[in-house]
Amino acid sequence: MPEADASEAQKNYHLDVPQTSDAFFLKGSNCYDWGFKNRLARIFNPASGKTVMLAFDHGYFQGPTTGLERIDVSILPLAPHADALMLTRGILRSIIPPTVRNSVVMRSSGGPSILRELSDERIAVDVEDAVRMNVAAMAVQVFIGGENETQTVHNMTRLVDAGNRFGMPVLGVTAVGKELTRDARYIGLATRICAELGAAFVKTYFVPGFETVTAACPVPIVIAGGKKLPELDALQMARDAIDQGASGVDMGRNIFQSDAPAAMIEAVRGVVHDGMGAAAAHELYETLKAERDG
Ligand code: R5P
Repeated sequence: MPEADASEAQKNYHLDVPQTSDAFFLKGSNCYDWGFKNRLARIFNPASGKTVMLAFDHGYFQGPTTGLERIDVSILPLAPHADALMLTRGILRSIIPPTVRNSVVMRSSGGPSILRELSDERIAVDVEDAVRMNVAAMAVQVFIGGENETQTVHNMTRLVDAGNRFGMPVLGVTAVGKELTRDARYIGLATRICAELGAAFVKTYFVPGFETVTAACPVPIVIAGGKKLPELDALQMARDAIDQGASGVDMGRNIFQSDAPAAMIEAVRGVVHDGMGAAAAHELYETLKAERDG
Protein backbone atom coordinates (compact mmCIF):
# COMPACT_ATOMS: atom_id res chain seq x y z
CA MET A 1 0.00 0.00 0.00
CA PRO A 2 1.37 3.51 -0.83
CA GLU A 3 1.65 5.84 2.10
CA ALA A 4 -1.54 7.71 2.68
CA ASP A 5 -1.60 11.23 1.22
CA ALA A 6 -1.53 14.27 3.54
CA SER A 7 -4.78 15.17 5.18
CA GLU A 8 -7.00 17.80 3.52
CA ALA A 9 -6.00 20.29 6.20
CA GLN A 10 -2.32 20.09 5.14
CA LYS A 11 -2.99 20.70 1.44
CA ASN A 12 -2.64 24.11 -0.22
CA TYR A 13 -4.87 24.81 -3.21
CA HIS A 14 -3.71 28.46 -3.54
CA LEU A 15 -7.34 29.48 -3.69
CA ASP A 16 -6.34 33.16 -3.94
CA VAL A 17 -4.21 32.60 -7.08
CA PRO A 18 -6.24 32.35 -10.30
CA GLN A 19 -4.71 30.10 -12.95
CA THR A 20 -3.44 32.19 -15.83
CA SER A 21 -3.89 31.42 -19.49
CA ASP A 22 -1.55 33.70 -21.40
CA ALA A 23 -1.66 34.31 -25.12
CA PHE A 24 1.31 32.82 -26.98
CA PHE A 25 4.02 35.44 -27.48
CA LEU A 26 4.48 35.12 -31.24
CA LYS A 27 2.51 37.07 -33.80
CA GLY A 28 -0.25 35.04 -35.46
CA SER A 29 0.69 31.86 -33.60
CA ASN A 30 -1.95 31.58 -30.89
CA CYS A 31 -4.08 28.86 -32.39
CA TYR A 32 -1.49 26.09 -32.78
CA ASP A 33 -1.27 22.98 -30.63
CA TRP A 34 1.19 22.57 -27.72
CA GLY A 35 3.95 20.75 -29.58
CA PHE A 36 3.81 23.23 -32.47
CA LYS A 37 4.10 26.18 -30.07
CA ASN A 38 6.84 24.48 -28.08
CA ARG A 39 8.86 24.07 -31.27
CA LEU A 40 8.38 27.76 -32.12
CA ALA A 41 9.40 28.72 -28.58
CA ARG A 42 12.65 26.80 -29.08
CA ILE A 43 13.41 28.90 -32.17
CA PHE A 44 12.17 32.29 -30.92
CA ASN A 45 13.35 33.31 -27.45
CA PRO A 46 10.16 33.88 -25.42
CA ALA A 47 11.93 36.64 -23.42
CA SER A 48 12.68 38.85 -26.44
CA GLY A 49 10.24 37.32 -28.93
CA LYS A 50 13.13 37.21 -31.40
CA THR A 51 15.60 34.74 -32.86
CA VAL A 52 19.14 34.61 -34.15
CA MET A 53 19.26 31.72 -36.58
CA LEU A 54 22.64 30.75 -37.98
CA ALA A 55 22.18 29.71 -41.63
CA PHE A 56 24.69 27.31 -43.13
CA ASP A 57 22.52 25.28 -45.49
CA HIS A 58 24.03 26.87 -48.62
CA GLY A 59 25.73 23.61 -49.62
CA TYR A 60 22.41 22.06 -50.57
CA PHE A 61 22.68 23.71 -53.97
CA GLN A 62 26.16 25.25 -54.15
CA GLY A 63 28.41 22.70 -52.49
CA PRO A 64 31.36 23.82 -50.33
CA THR A 65 30.51 27.53 -50.08
CA THR A 66 33.25 29.93 -48.93
CA GLY A 67 33.36 29.70 -45.16
CA LEU A 68 31.54 26.37 -45.11
CA GLU A 69 34.31 24.14 -46.47
CA ARG A 70 34.67 22.51 -43.05
CA ILE A 71 31.51 22.97 -40.99
CA ASP A 72 33.02 20.98 -38.12
CA VAL A 73 35.88 23.49 -37.88
CA SER A 74 34.25 26.82 -38.70
CA ILE A 75 30.60 26.52 -37.72
CA LEU A 76 30.39 24.19 -34.72
CA PRO A 77 32.18 26.67 -32.43
CA LEU A 78 29.49 29.24 -33.28
CA ALA A 79 26.58 27.02 -32.25
CA PRO A 80 26.48 28.18 -28.60
CA HIS A 81 25.91 31.75 -29.82
CA ALA A 82 22.87 30.91 -31.97
CA ASP A 83 19.26 30.25 -31.01
CA ALA A 84 18.66 27.98 -33.98
CA LEU A 85 20.78 26.22 -36.57
CA MET A 86 19.52 26.24 -40.16
CA LEU A 87 21.08 23.31 -41.97
CA THR A 88 20.54 20.22 -44.06
CA ARG A 89 19.83 16.74 -42.79
CA GLY A 90 23.16 15.47 -44.16
CA ILE A 91 25.15 17.98 -42.14
CA LEU A 92 23.03 17.38 -39.05
CA ARG A 93 23.72 13.67 -39.00
CA SER A 94 27.35 13.82 -40.12
CA ILE A 95 28.70 16.81 -38.21
CA ILE A 96 26.40 18.17 -35.50
CA PRO A 97 26.67 16.36 -32.16
CA PRO A 98 23.29 15.47 -30.65
CA THR A 99 24.39 17.22 -27.45
CA VAL A 100 23.92 20.73 -28.94
CA ARG A 101 21.35 22.86 -27.14
CA ASN A 102 20.16 24.68 -30.28
CA SER A 103 16.89 24.16 -32.01
CA VAL A 104 17.20 22.94 -35.57
CA VAL A 105 15.48 24.43 -38.61
CA MET A 106 15.96 21.97 -41.41
CA ARG A 107 16.27 22.80 -45.08
CA SER A 108 13.60 20.51 -46.49
CA SER A 109 13.43 21.38 -50.17
CA GLY A 110 16.06 20.92 -52.84
CA GLY A 111 16.98 19.20 -56.05
CA PRO A 112 18.71 21.41 -58.59
CA SER A 113 22.26 22.66 -58.17
CA ILE A 114 23.60 26.06 -59.18
CA LEU A 115 24.32 24.47 -62.54
CA ARG A 116 20.58 24.16 -63.29
CA GLU A 117 17.28 26.06 -62.96
CA LEU A 118 17.20 26.65 -59.19
CA SER A 119 13.45 26.90 -58.83
CA ASP A 120 12.90 23.32 -59.93
CA GLU A 121 12.85 22.08 -56.32
CA ARG A 122 11.00 19.21 -54.66
CA ILE A 123 10.38 18.32 -51.04
CA ALA A 124 13.65 16.81 -49.82
CA VAL A 125 12.85 15.60 -46.28
CA ASP A 126 9.95 13.52 -44.98
CA VAL A 127 8.25 14.97 -41.91
CA GLU A 128 8.63 11.62 -40.13
CA ASP A 129 12.41 11.84 -40.44
CA ALA A 130 12.30 15.46 -39.28
CA VAL A 131 10.45 14.35 -36.15
CA ARG A 132 13.02 11.55 -35.69
CA MET A 133 15.77 14.23 -35.72
CA ASN A 134 13.85 16.38 -33.22
CA VAL A 135 13.67 19.22 -35.71
CA ALA A 136 11.88 22.42 -34.62
CA ALA A 137 10.82 23.59 -38.10
CA MET A 138 11.12 22.57 -41.73
CA ALA A 139 12.18 25.19 -44.32
CA VAL A 140 10.99 25.17 -47.89
CA GLN A 141 11.92 27.55 -50.70
CA VAL A 142 9.11 29.28 -52.59
CA PHE A 143 9.79 31.00 -55.91
CA ILE A 144 6.90 33.46 -56.35
CA GLY A 145 6.92 34.75 -59.92
CA GLY A 146 9.53 32.19 -60.89
CA GLU A 147 9.45 29.56 -63.59
CA ASN A 148 8.26 26.87 -61.15
CA GLU A 149 6.06 29.03 -58.94
CA THR A 150 3.14 26.61 -58.59
CA GLN A 151 5.38 23.60 -58.02
CA THR A 152 7.30 25.33 -55.23
CA VAL A 153 4.11 26.65 -53.61
CA HIS A 154 2.77 23.11 -53.80
CA ASN A 155 5.95 21.83 -52.11
CA MET A 156 5.21 24.22 -49.24
CA THR A 157 1.51 23.44 -48.89
CA ARG A 158 2.20 19.69 -48.87
CA LEU A 159 4.79 20.16 -46.14
CA VAL A 160 2.37 22.34 -44.17
CA ASP A 161 -0.23 19.55 -44.31
CA ALA A 162 2.34 16.93 -43.29
CA GLY A 163 3.77 19.20 -40.60
CA ASN A 164 0.37 19.93 -39.11
CA ARG A 165 -0.13 16.21 -38.48
CA PHE A 166 3.00 16.19 -36.29
CA GLY A 167 2.99 19.69 -34.78
CA MET A 168 5.83 20.71 -37.07
CA PRO A 169 6.02 24.39 -38.17
CA VAL A 170 7.03 25.18 -41.75
CA LEU A 171 9.28 28.12 -42.60
CA GLY A 172 8.49 29.57 -46.02
CA VAL A 173 11.64 30.95 -47.63
CA THR A 174 11.02 33.49 -50.36
CA ALA A 175 13.60 33.06 -53.08
CA VAL A 176 14.40 35.80 -55.54
CA GLY A 177 15.18 34.77 -59.10
CA LYS A 178 17.56 36.81 -61.23
CA GLU A 179 14.69 38.25 -63.19
CA LEU A 180 12.64 39.45 -60.19
CA THR A 181 12.86 42.88 -58.58
CA ARG A 182 13.78 42.80 -54.93
CA ASP A 183 11.49 45.54 -53.60
CA ALA A 184 8.80 45.89 -50.92
CA ARG A 185 6.02 45.25 -53.41
CA TYR A 186 7.47 41.94 -54.53
CA ILE A 187 8.63 40.85 -51.06
CA GLY A 188 5.22 41.84 -49.66
CA LEU A 189 3.53 39.67 -52.26
CA ALA A 190 5.78 36.66 -51.69
CA THR A 191 5.72 36.75 -47.87
CA ARG A 192 1.96 37.22 -47.72
CA ILE A 193 1.38 34.28 -50.04
CA CYS A 194 3.59 32.06 -47.83
CA ALA A 195 1.61 33.09 -44.73
CA GLU A 196 -1.79 32.75 -46.42
CA LEU A 197 -0.92 29.22 -47.52
CA GLY A 198 0.16 28.06 -44.07
CA ALA A 199 3.81 28.92 -43.35
CA ALA A 200 4.20 29.44 -39.59
CA PHE A 201 6.97 31.98 -40.24
CA VAL A 202 8.64 33.40 -43.28
CA LYS A 203 12.20 34.19 -44.25
CA THR A 204 12.89 36.94 -46.73
CA TYR A 205 15.23 39.78 -47.63
CA PHE A 206 15.29 43.22 -46.03
CA VAL A 207 14.27 45.92 -48.51
CA PRO A 208 13.41 49.64 -48.26
CA GLY A 209 9.81 49.98 -47.06
CA PHE A 210 10.09 46.77 -45.04
CA GLU A 211 7.55 47.96 -42.46
CA THR A 212 4.80 47.48 -45.05
CA VAL A 213 6.00 43.90 -45.60
CA THR A 214 5.89 43.00 -41.89
CA ALA A 215 2.59 44.84 -41.40
CA ALA A 216 0.89 42.84 -44.13
CA CYS A 217 2.35 39.48 -43.09
CA PRO A 218 0.29 37.89 -40.28
CA VAL A 219 3.12 35.63 -39.06
CA PRO A 220 6.70 36.38 -37.94
CA ILE A 221 9.32 37.31 -40.53
CA VAL A 222 13.05 36.69 -40.20
CA ILE A 223 15.52 38.24 -42.60
CA ALA A 224 18.27 36.49 -44.53
CA GLY A 225 21.63 38.22 -44.45
CA GLY A 226 22.43 37.96 -48.14
CA LYS A 227 25.86 38.65 -49.61
CA LYS A 228 28.70 39.58 -47.27
CA LEU A 229 28.63 43.25 -46.29
CA PRO A 230 31.00 45.26 -44.08
CA GLU A 231 30.12 44.31 -40.48
CA LEU A 232 28.69 47.73 -39.61
CA ASP A 233 26.38 47.64 -42.64
CA ALA A 234 25.15 44.14 -41.79
CA LEU A 235 24.45 45.19 -38.21
CA GLN A 236 22.62 48.29 -39.44
CA MET A 237 20.51 46.11 -41.73
CA ALA A 238 19.61 43.87 -38.78
CA ARG A 239 18.76 46.92 -36.64
CA ASP A 240 16.56 48.43 -39.38
CA ALA A 241 14.81 45.11 -39.96
CA ILE A 242 14.02 44.64 -36.26
CA ASP A 243 12.87 48.26 -35.95
CA GLN A 244 10.57 47.66 -38.92
CA GLY A 245 8.92 44.58 -37.48
CA ALA A 246 11.20 41.63 -38.18
CA SER A 247 11.21 38.90 -35.53
CA GLY A 248 14.85 38.03 -36.03
CA VAL A 249 17.52 37.11 -38.50
CA ASP A 250 18.51 33.93 -40.29
CA MET A 251 22.02 35.02 -41.17
CA GLY A 252 24.77 33.08 -42.85
CA ARG A 253 27.50 34.71 -44.94
CA ASN A 254 27.55 37.93 -42.93
CA ILE A 255 28.50 35.80 -39.93
CA PHE A 256 30.59 32.91 -41.18
CA GLN A 257 32.45 34.99 -43.81
CA SER A 258 33.27 37.70 -41.25
CA ASP A 259 36.89 38.07 -40.09
CA ALA A 260 35.66 37.23 -36.58
CA PRO A 261 32.50 35.08 -36.84
CA ALA A 262 31.99 34.56 -33.09
CA ALA A 263 32.34 38.29 -32.43
CA MET A 264 29.94 39.03 -35.28
CA ILE A 265 27.21 36.67 -34.11
CA GLU A 266 27.47 38.13 -30.60
CA ALA A 267 27.07 41.62 -32.08
CA VAL A 268 24.03 40.42 -34.05
CA ARG A 269 22.59 39.02 -30.80
CA GLY A 270 23.11 42.43 -29.21
CA VAL A 271 20.98 44.01 -31.94
CA VAL A 272 18.28 41.35 -32.08
CA HIS A 273 17.83 40.46 -28.40
CA ASP A 274 19.23 43.41 -26.46
CA GLY A 275 18.09 46.40 -28.51
CA MET A 276 21.63 47.58 -29.31
CA GLY A 277 22.12 50.17 -32.02
CA ALA A 278 24.34 49.26 -34.96
CA ALA A 279 27.23 51.47 -33.79
CA ALA A 280 27.23 49.99 -30.27
CA ALA A 281 26.99 46.48 -31.66
CA HIS A 282 29.87 47.20 -34.00
CA GLU A 283 31.93 48.41 -31.05
CA LEU A 284 31.12 45.12 -29.31
CA TYR A 285 32.24 43.27 -32.44
CA GLU A 286 35.57 45.14 -32.50
CA THR A 287 36.14 44.54 -28.77
CA LEU A 288 35.45 40.81 -29.00
CA LYS A 289 37.56 40.52 -32.12
CA ALA A 290 40.47 42.29 -30.40
CA GLU A 291 40.12 40.02 -27.36
CA ARG A 292 40.31 36.99 -29.64
CA ASP A 293 43.36 38.34 -31.45
CA GLY A 294 45.00 39.73 -28.30
C1 R5P B 1 20.48 29.87 -48.98
O1 R5P B 1 21.26 29.05 -49.35
C2 R5P B 1 19.80 29.71 -47.73
O2 R5P B 1 18.42 29.85 -47.76
C3 R5P B 1 20.39 30.55 -46.64
O3 R5P B 1 19.96 29.97 -45.45
C4 R5P B 1 19.98 31.99 -46.67
O4 R5P B 1 20.26 32.59 -47.89
C5 R5P B 1 20.60 32.78 -45.53
O5 R5P B 1 21.94 32.86 -45.66
P1 R5P B 1 22.66 34.24 -46.04
O6 R5P B 1 22.55 35.11 -44.82
O7 R5P B 1 24.07 33.85 -46.33
O8 R5P B 1 21.95 34.84 -47.19
